[in-house]
Amino acid sequence: MGKIGILQVGPYPAWDEEPLNAEFEMHRYFEADDKPAFLTGCAGSVRGIATRGEMGADRTMIEALPNLEIISVYGVGFDAVDLDAARERGIRVTNTPDVLTKDVADLGIAMMLAQARGMIAAEAWVRSGNWAGRGLYPLKSRVHGKRAGILGLGRIGFEVGKRLSGFDMDIAYCDIAARDFAPDWTFIDTPVALAERSDFLFVTLAASAETRHIVGKGVIAALGPDGMLINISRASNVDEEALLDALESGVLGSAALDVFEGEPEINPRFLKLDNVLLQPHHASGTVETRKAMGKLVRDNLTAHFAGRELLTPVL
Ligand code: 8YV
Repeated sequence: MGKIGILQVGPYPAWDEEPLNAEFEMHRYFEADDKPAFLTGCAGSVRGIATRGEMGADRTMIEALPNLEIISVYGVGFDAVDLDAARERGIRVTNTPDVLTKDVADLGIAMMLAQARGMIAAEAWVRSGNWAGRGLYPLKSRVHGKRAGILGLGRIGFEVGKRLSGFDMDIAYCDIAARDFAPDWTFIDTPVALAERSDFLFVTLAASAETRHIVGKGVIAALGPDGMLINISRASNVDEEALLDALESGVLGSAALDVFEGEPEINPRFLKLDNVLLQPHHASGTVETRKAMGKLVRDNLTAHFAGRELLTPVL
């Protein structure tokens, strides 16, 4: 029997490509110039999709593959997969939760510290070779002991909170209900009220149609000219135009962002701002975590085609 065909939506590290190619017939969609023609060409033989969190699988892709049985996502976020289209055909969907939680939280904290203490510009100060001529680096404001808000107290939000408590922060969170696993943190029932009582607002929500632009003009204004927004979730959770307006006008103090609308192309307005820290969507980007994510992608595919239970099912 020939190998099972898998549509590969984006590239993976060599340590994943090798075992994937050994076990399956991988159709490298991302390398095709004419993507619709490529899809038509391999449609009959594809029984699975291996994709990445930010790439997902849209309705057009799903509908083009009549023998599709499973979509395995390399990432915890599955907002870019059209779940309705998958559900209609009984197509299974898996993601890679848990293995990346702590790395994402780590990067969120690093972003807060780097931005609050001006570390990127400070490095340039020294690297200019003219520290002596430039003199003392401008003073920044303190992080420890301040008020932190966490919008979305899921696995990642909880790990962010654990880390913030090490900085003696006053921690509050907003979610659909108070969480009994976070008794020491204050539950706030609206994003605006959370932003009002926060110096640092972390966005750690799983993205969906319901959370689109949940951080809008009102939340941003409530965070205010001394506040910082840190987004390690999805760009769609934030109204990017409102964010840019607020950063440009000073309505919002600063932001630290790992995710952008239309990434990897980003709105050029960001590039002109010095009150925003820009990161290339790499919160889960450590060797250890990416290896674990790749293994989960493969293990879910293998389990499905062997008729075993999926390890981390979404659908
Ligand atoms: C990855 C992610 O950067 O987990 C997610 O949802 O967006 C990230 O972990 C991405 O999926 C890798 O392609």
